[in-house]
Amino acid sequence: MYQFIVILVKKQQTLKTVRARALARALALARARARKFFRLTLILFIKGLLQFKAMKNDKDSSRQNRDPSRQKQDSTRQNNKDTSWQKVGQWYDSIVGDQGSYYHQQIILPHVMKLLDMQSGASLLDLGCGQGVLAGRIPKDVGYLGLDAAKSLLAKAKARHKGRSFQFADLTKPLVLPSHRLFTHACCILALQNMAEPDKVLANIKPYLAPNAKLVLVLNHPCFRIPRQSSWGFDEAAKLQYRRVNSYMSPQKIPIFTNPGQETSETTYSFHHPLSAIFGFLKNSGFLVQGVEEWCSDKVSEGKAARWENRARKEFPLFMGITCVVS
Ligand SMILES: C[S@@+](CC[C@H](N)C(=O)[O-])C[C@H]1O[C@@H](n2cnc3c(N)ncnc32)[C@H](O)[C@@H]1O
Repeated sequence: MYQFIVILVKKQQTLKTVRARALARALALARARARKFFRLTLILFIKGLLQFKAMKNDKDSSRQNRDPSRQKQDSTRQNNKDTSWQKVGQWYDSIVGDQGSYYHQQIILPHVMKLLDMQSGASLLDLGCGQGVLAGRIPKDVGYLGLDAAKSLLAKAKARHKGRSFQFADLTKPLVLPSHRLFTHACCILALQNMAEPDKVLANIKPYLAPNAKLVLVLNHPCFRIPRQSSWGFDEAAKLQYRRVNSYMSPQKIPIFTNPGQETSETTYSFHHPLSAIFGFLKNSGFLVQGVEEWCSDKVSEGKAARWENRARKEFPLFMGITCVVS
């Protein structure tokens, strides 16, 4: 009897051990499956997240491609500090002088006056007027207001052109002009590319322009004259002077040193935008482009390389003149 009880107890103990082991195995299996399930869910979630991000990026970049004027605007919007030529006023005035620089006199001013085609009674808003190089060319019976953010240059302009009005204005900020009259013409000579946000400048001046008012923009040619990104080269085999352009589509904020050779040099900025962006700014601000002109240098080289230099000069324009009307 005793032996029988001992056997029964042992059997029950073995049964318990077997059950406990089976339970432990089942638990371990369940834990492993749960881990696998969790891992899989995590992988699927991360994959979904990455896909969503990629789709969003695609959408953003295709939106940018549709509207090139907005492309990478952020890179040029950054650091929108003072872009005025206040600190380099003395230097700029010594270059431009009373009559204008060589290119002002020979190319820009004659073309601009022709494009503006102002009749008696017209009125002109000169955007980024500097030391007033255009003011001296405006007939007496045409109204004139020069705007600039450099007080040093405005002082030079006022001293030179006593009967004309000049006013301090950062054209990237909302504009407040004393008079409520609307201008029939506006002009911006070599200055829009020195302003951080050309689209804002155009939007700010628009309320001060009469219906059908004319706007003439003069730019350093945005395709061939990009500071630090374009230069001359010579192809020995083809015996050809060519223009090298390192980058074009990307908007850029490019520092310009007024005295590059010296240890300390004041800096101004040039803001590059491709043509599609510039025309986009105009369209978005309500200006209708009427015409585009490209102006080459009229200088003539002499000496050994004259033939190549003269040919290249005629092939690559220095400036672009854009005429628009308020739409
Ligand atoms: C290269 S100069 C051209 C001046 C003049 N139009 C000429 O042809 O001699 C560029 C001018 O743009 C002005 N400028 C730059 N940023 C400006 C801003 N945000 N608002 C108004 N003028 C600005 C500078 O102060 C400078 O006088």
